[in-house]
Amino acid sequence: MRISVIGCGYLGAVHAACMARLGHDVIGLDVDQAKVTSLNAGVPPFYEPDFPELLTSQLAAGRLRFTTDASCIADAQVHFIAVGTPQLAGRNAADLSYVRSAVNTLIEVVGTSAGPAVIAGKSTVPVGTAERIQQICDESGKDLVVVWNPEFLREGFAVQDTLAPDRIVYGLPDDPERAEIGRRCLDECYQELLGDRTPRLLTNHATAELVKVAANSFLATKISFINAMAELCDATGGDVTQLAEAIGYDDRIGRKFLRAGVGFGGGCLPKDIRAFMARAGELGVDQALTFLREVDAINLRQRDKAVEMASKLLGGRFVGHKVAVLGAAFKPNSDDLRDSPALQVAQQIWSRGADLVITDPAAADALRHKRPNLQVVDTVAEAVQDVDVVLLLTEWQEYRELDPVELRNLVRTPNIIDGRNVLEPARWIEAGWNYRGMGRHANRTATPVSL
Ligand code: UDX
Repeated sequence: MRISVIGCGYLGAVHAACMARLGHDVIGLDVDQAKVTSLNAGVPPFYEPDFPELLTSQLAAGRLRFTTDASCIADAQVHFIAVGTPQLAGRNAADLSYVRSAVNTLIEVVGTSAGPAVIAGKSTVPVGTAERIQQICDESGKDLVVVWNPEFLREGFAVQDTLAPDRIVYGLPDDPERAEIGRRCLDECYQELLGDRTPRLLTNHATAELVKVAANSFLATKISFINAMAELCDATGGDVTQLAEAIGYDDRIGRKFLRAGVGFGGGCLPKDIRAFMARAGELGVDQALTFLREVDAINLRQRDKAVEMASKLLGGRFVGHKVAVLGAAFKPNSDDLRDSPALQVAQQIWSRGADLVITDPAAADALRHKRPNLQVVDTVAEAVQDVDVVLLLTEWQEYRELDPVELRNLVRTPNIIDGRNVLEPARWIEAGWNYRGMGRHANRTATPVSL
């Protein structure tokens, strides 16, 4: 098939390369010339495992190219919209201006005579967006059928998640004829994946849009639930990692997404739950999602807690102390700094006067660019030299494997805050460290109840 992908960020660029890998003829369109040039040269503008190899192989096969010239996508049979929907400044709602301009571009370039083309929306949008796009297309007189086809990929596993998805959802128009055009078109696109028996769910527009935000809200709720339990553990001497393991053996609860720590960040979870609340407000059902306000609040509190833990270890004063932060990206195997808990904690500690050094295996360059105030170094050894406290805030494999004995010789004071609960406390304590996890205050006992 001839496919266009509008928006070539983490989502769009990976989707374009994966569609080419499925044998289609793909053009990625983006307004950013530097990004397009880099992708065409086979150099990904972001860190994503497996993507560089896929990109170069598909470019070489001649099935994939990127452009800023919108006229090049005119004759595609399906146009995937993969632009960002970031949080609006100062508000909870999503900024839909990139979606709107993608639709405008399409209407401008798509011909009138070639028969229906399909717009397949992948961006995360407020419910009601697909319906509005269909109206705009109809008003323009262009023969375009809108399908919502949410994307569930995780950064760090983007290629794998796109080529072997858990499920594929088509949010189809109510009109049966249009729904059939949309279904057939996406079936042809995903033929190879559907052959592997990936579940395919056919829904209306609203359900498909809601599936995505519901999934992300559920994941965010799970993380905040376990972080709330971590607060209880801190107050009582419990250990949240054992608690998570014990409740996780119940299949109905499950072990995944119950890792307590400095909480969730990134370009999706935080802004998606906020946009969902804002949309519920517009729809007059804000009470249904009031709990997400608490999910957000618990999450942000974890960041403050990490700062306070460090402050306490330093006798309440950052000024005059040297602090190392290991990890800046919002999660490992990514260089994405958007709403990163690690970066926010580092920034807060810096603004309270600490001599702060930060490192990250993938995000160091992006960090130097984004936060020129911070002292960024390339290795753990440089970061921890003569520090009074080390905070591990992004659980890169190389940080999980750090040797407490070796590290002990580099620091001034052996204080470690394990902001992702990935270190083995006994090993660190044995090597002479003052270890603090999140919700692992094994050295505190609960105030006894009165009987
Ligand atoms: C998420 C969804 O998982 C994905 O399906 C959707 O398409 C986009 O949003 P992503 O943002 O890549 O993906 O990250 P994810 O792996 O979900 O992690 C989100 C954040 O939660 C990270 O900051 C991570 O460190 C944190 N997290 C995750 C926890 O704090 N604890 C956990 O148990 C799991």
